[in-house]
Amino acid sequence: MSDKMKILRLEKNAIANALTGGKVTIAVYGLGKMGLPLAAVFAQKGAKVIGVDIDQKVVAEVNKGECPILGEPGLPEMLKPNVERGRLSATMDGVAAAKESDVMVILVPCLLNGDKSPDLTAISAASSSISQGLSKGDLVILETTVPPCTTKNMLLPILKQSGLKDGEFGLAFCPERTSSSRAIRDITGSYMKVVGGIDQKSTATAEAIYSVINKKGVITVSDTTAAEAIKLFEGIYRDVNIALSNELALISREIGVSPMEIFPVVNEPFDEVHQRYHINLLQPGAGVGGHCIPVYPYFVTKTTQTDTSLIKVARKINDFMPYHMVNLIIEGLNDIGKDVKGSNVLILGLAFRGGVKEARNSPAIPIIQRLKELRANVFLYDPLFSKEEIESFGAAYSGSFDNMDCLVIVTDHNEFKEYDWQRISGNMRNKVIVDGRQIVEPEKARKLGFVYKGIGCL
Ligand SMILES: NC(=O)c1ccc[n+]([C@@H]2O[C@H](COP(=O)([O-])OP(=O)(O)OC[C@H]3O[C@@H](n4cnc5c(N)ncnc54)[C@H](O)[C@@H]3O)[C@@H](O)[C@H]2O)c1
Repeated sequence: MSDKMKILRLEKNAIANALTGGKVTIAVYGLGKMGLPLAAVFAQKGAKVIGVDIDQKVVAEVNKGECPILGEPGLPEMLKPNVERGRLSATMDGVAAAKESDVMVILVPCLLNGDKSPDLTAISAASSSISQGLSKGDLVILETTVPPCTTKNMLLPILKQSGLKDGEFGLAFCPERTSSSRAIRDITGSYMKVVGGIDQKSTATAEAIYSVINKKGVITVSDTTAAEAIKLFEGIYRDVNIALSNELALISREIGVSPMEIFPVVNEPFDEVHQRYHINLLQPGAGVGGHCIPVYPYFVTKTTQTDTSLIKVARKINDFMPYHMVNLIIEGLNDIGKDVKGSNVLILGLAFRGGVKEARNSPAIPIIQRLKELRANVFLYDPLFSKEEIESFGAAYSGSFDNMDCLVIVTDHNEFKEYDWQRISGNMRNKVIVDGRQIVEPEKARKLGFVYKGIGCL
């Protein structure tokens, strides 16, 4: 076991100096889209970083200085030199990493089980390893978004299995407030870092560590549960607001008005100072995907006693949007006298968000399933996914518009925004567009002879 520095005993300036001077060892558990950029940033600032992952391939790639995460600007350039210089390495041995480290950061996934209850197995496994290597004076940080009270009710008891008592080690929840494709920028200073510890020393030590890497600074809150709630409430706010935009878009369609005309007028400032309304702050669309926004509401609805009707109904509305897309596809095809059964439908976009290679909870998935149930011929194209990856979602791969009857835009990829619709209209067998991301101007499409259906546009 290496000599640990007992980081919990140091004052803020001493921590900053030790970290930048290469005297602090930080283990990051989970070298995924969020953990690897964090590990690289700590190494870049001078810390010795040990990345821990259960995926042998990820560990091998990182140790070669190769970046397993695609589409993360600045990450490959930061990773390689730090591996070469010996500041960053990876291992599958989480116990040994904890024995070596002063700070252990957990950034493994927390997703949902089949019944939508939170799946805490990865967090439990990572913290068990840490517990076996924990020493007096160490600090453990959880960054993964979790259900309320997880840090104090689940993590703390696991860490105490080490035999250490309250106050002998530190524990903080410091939510990861980043998005894929901008992780380095976010970690180093798009937002202030939020930090909440189980005691004052844990909070102060975590604050000192993140102050070194985040130039926007750190907000400290009263405890770990407050810090957990900040991240959860951010996610729930987004989900509920998107649901409101979606429901208003559905109403708009029924009464024959365009949200794109109405929302900006509602949002006109009340006077020079007050912006009273923010509808369409989050746009209506084909559905809410990814492993954050559609997941975090369940962390609250499944674990608290409060009547969470609003949050549940928001989830229901957002989950309905892919089925609304299918209704628009049927309508568009019916408008040209075609049945959805036997029609060639090309879905544009598998990623849940433009520019991000992530298909988890993508609205494209239920759209494909429903269209197949309706016996359409379903094709899929996404510039970020290979033919094999596309086919694993149950649709045929097609990068061509030839013979298509209907195009369905699910993702706001830049490539789709730059399409030459005139050329495309010449290639299709029938011309129906269903636009779930307000990418095509309705009037322009109609002038080219398309039947246009969209969410958020008339
Ligand atoms: N990706 C995002 O945009 C995003 C945004 C906000 C918050 N988050 C948060 O970050 C967390 C992690 O997300 P991600 O995108 O980095 O996930 P990811 O799936 O890209 O990576 C997770 C990594 O953890 C590894 N892992 C799983 N169990 C492990 C264990 N027991 N020990 C060590 N490693 C283990 C996996 O092999 C994988 O490499 C999420 O659960 C969420 O709370 C992510």
